[in-house]
Amino acid sequence: MASSAHDKAFYVTTPIYYVNDAPHIGHAYTTTAGDVLTRWHRQRGEKVWFLTGVDEHGTKVQRAAEDGGVTPQQWVDRLVTDSWRPVLSTINAANDDFIRTTEPRHIERVQKFWEQVRENGYVYSAPYEGPYCVGCEEFKLPGDLLAGTGEFEGQQVCPVHSRPVEQLTEDNWFFKLSSFQQALIDHYEANPDAIAPRSAYNEVMSFLRQGLVDISMSRSSVSWGIPLPWDEKQVVYVWFDALLNYATAVGYGADPASEEGQRFAQTWPCDVHLVGKDIVRFHAVYWPAMLMAAGVPVAHKVFAHGWLLVGGEKMSKSKLTGIAPEQIIDHFGADSFRYYFLRAIAFGQDGSFSWEDMSARYTSELANGLGNLASRATAMVVRYCDGALPTPGAYEPAEQALIDALATLVPEADTAMAELDFATAIGGVRSFIEMVNGYVTDVEPWVLAKDPAQSERLHTVLYTICESLRAIAVLYNPVMPVTMADLWQQLGAESTLGPIADQRIDAVATWGQLQPGTVITKGDALFPRLEESE
Ligand code: MSP
Repeated sequence: MASSAHDKAFYVTTPIYYVNDAPHIGHAYTTTAGDVLTRWHRQRGEKVWFLTGVDEHGTKVQRAAEDGGVTPQQWVDRLVTDSWRPVLSTINAANDDFIRTTEPRHIERVQKFWEQVRENGYVYSAPYEGPYCVGCEEFKLPGDLLAGTGEFEGQQVCPVHSRPVEQLTEDNWFFKLSSFQQALIDHYEANPDAIAPRSAYNEVMSFLRQGLVDISMSRSSVSWGIPLPWDEKQVVYVWFDALLNYATAVGYGADPASEEGQRFAQTWPCDVHLVGKDIVRFHAVYWPAMLMAAGVPVAHKVFAHGWLLVGGEKMSKSKLTGIAPEQIIDHFGADSFRYYFLRAIAFGQDGSFSWEDMSARYTSELANGLGNLASRATAMVVRYCDGALPTPGAYEPAEQALIDALATLVPEADTAMAELDFATAIGGVRSFIEMVNGYVTDVEPWVLAKDPAQSERLHTVLYTICESLRAIAVLYNPVMPVTMADLWQQLGAESTLGPIADQRIDAVATWGQLQPGTVITKGDALFPRLEESE
């Protein structure tokens, strides 16, 4: 059955991570962003597909396995089991699939893809001579390199790894990248939102305008990779194997009548490739050119986020600056981790992590802001109304201001999320929380509670606070799913409204959803006070 546009899933990917590296918060950052984005879209009622995975082939892995005295397959199996799969549960990612480039589904489809590109006339054999950075797994252009310093004085080094590049001389197969220069320029001129933010768009356009040269798509001196179907002595160059994961994982090349073939029809093209800014060229130049060469539609958007910095430099394992996600999560919890990185750093710009900043925001925004509001609200309903949510009376301007602010906030947050502007979406909800906290301070429900003549007013106020918390819980659920499920529980919302994950963004601002009479409970603090860290 042919799929209609209506069936199309919102498809988001992370880069597939080099399995060799120890996962650090830079990697977790991309996956967290994808997870928040896709949870939001699920709550918009959309079909969603969220893919992440690992990049397992190439020189780096082959050498590390040799050094470790094991086969490359044993090496990668261990890393995937011990390091990469666990990090997904550590950060609480709800990915729909996890692709490994050593899986048969990937290998077969990569071979099929390149066979197709070759049939279409975009692959030819030629010698390659030039610099290669094993850290980046990238053929470098002379203009890409920097003069080395210190122990590498007098040598050309990779700007990302600050280490010398290797000089390769190999007989390779080349991909006719140059044939796609104009098509790519035309595509991006017609679709200026296809690369974001603007700085990444400009960088790609200037790279394209400088002119594209053909590029090796195979390696003859590497054995750990996917053999070329027409020349089994060579393997597919690791990036031209890895990029294909986005298509092979959702069924590119599968029988269209099969379940996987159907999935391809319903997910492709990809909606958002999330990438770090260091790998934009691969995703916004090489990858769409490959797809064009095979006659497959290109992705709607590549979004390049910034780097997490340590001492002003990109956090990395090779520079020993990597912080493991669990170092932070063991202390603050996964939800606060997810909140902090998307709230404190504008997505698309670089940012530095510091324990001090994270502790300060945890305390002021989460514990004192939202946590305190929730505990005050539930405690007052328990105390003044025996735990039953009261029926509100007439709303006064103070309540109406909150109802109106919520009605403005929801579409604004939704627009910000559509633009992957997480900080603005989260900041909007945060302002609303402040407004509700300010309202509580102003109307002083504890004073109203002392005067029986004010009981209707007290009921209106308590209902308004709880109903505001209902909206906050739904809006924050994509960011902090565990804590918001807890809040949902305290509000007793599930019995009448159903699970929190089923609550729709477009209905959040509809006032009056919590049912009077609902049992409200005061649970543990949502964001407990933490011991001083480090
Ligand atoms: N394997 C390739 C990607 C292939 S995708 C077809 C690769 N892997 S990587 O593990 O080195 O990096 C993957 C991603 O991790 C980067 O794009 C970036 O999103 C993220 N980060 C790694 N270090 C980072 C920081 N210090 N800060 C933020 N993100 C960074 O490249």
